[in-house]
Amino acid sequence: MKDIQNIVILTGAGISAESGVATFRGPDGLWEGHRVEDVATPEAFARNSELVQNFYDQRRARLKTVHPNAAHKALAKLDAKWPGELLLVTQNVDDLHDRAGSTRLLHMHGELNSAWCLACDARSPFEGEMAEGPACPHCHQPGRLRPDIVWFGEMPYQMERIERALSRCDLFVSIGTSGAVYPAAGFVQTARYNGARTLEMNLDPSEGSFHFHESRMGRAGDLVPDWVEEVLSHGLC
Ligand code: OAD
Repeated sequence: MKDIQNIVILTGAGISAESGVATFRGPDGLWEGHRVEDVATPEAFARNSELVQNFYDQRRARLKTVHPNAAHKALAKLDAKWPGELLLVTQNVDDLHDRAGSTRLLHMHGELNSAWCLACDARSPFEGEMAEGPACPHCHQPGRLRPDIVWFGEMPYQMERIERALSRCDLFVSIGTSGAVYPAAGFVQTARYNGARTLEMNLDPSEGSFHFHESRMGRAGDLVPDWVEEVLSHGLC
């Protein structure tokens, strides 16, 4: 096993499950009672903005009731102590990695606590309710804010930075994601093509599980802290 310098970590909803945040793909195929195309597409927003705003307002409000778990905290510790390059790419729109203290962090699917103004294109921190049609803090137009979240059919954020990190990493780790949504689901193949070792930690095998050199099955809150200690003590995955 070779020494590692540069690490890319991808996280999904599974890392926040033990904090009490619902994952996306439940056994009934619904996301908290909604079909994904009714709440997570630009078409849904155009059709029924009130339903979509209420849905994300509820999720944003719930953030105030949940807390980072042992897996978020362990990744923040790794971020603080790892001397090489490290990039934590999360698909999650919650702020639990941020609150745990991760700084080399990128939200590729946007953030619940951010608003995007459709009038002036500015993004601003946002913690209230959008369904009420508040004014944009930049251009002051009311009723033009939408959740700063990447919906189906939209381009994830900072793909160039992610691709660059994937081309340089020698360890790629995927945590708590079903591997059902591209482009994130394809990161393992890019990293592996570029020579990285690849590890997945998930409750059950993801859709692309066979792409990984190693799979560890279990709860993120158990697996991730142990893995972080391994990496910090040996520098090896
Ligand atoms: P999913 O809900 O598709 O998958 C969550 C994964 O986490 C599943 O494979 C679970 O088995 C696993 N899991 C659940 N609890 C776990 C635990 N305690 N420890 C470890 N793993 C656990 O969520 P994502 O893969 O994140 O996109 O979904 C990807 C994207 O689909 C989301 O970012 C979202 C959604 O549509 C957008 O909003 C654009």
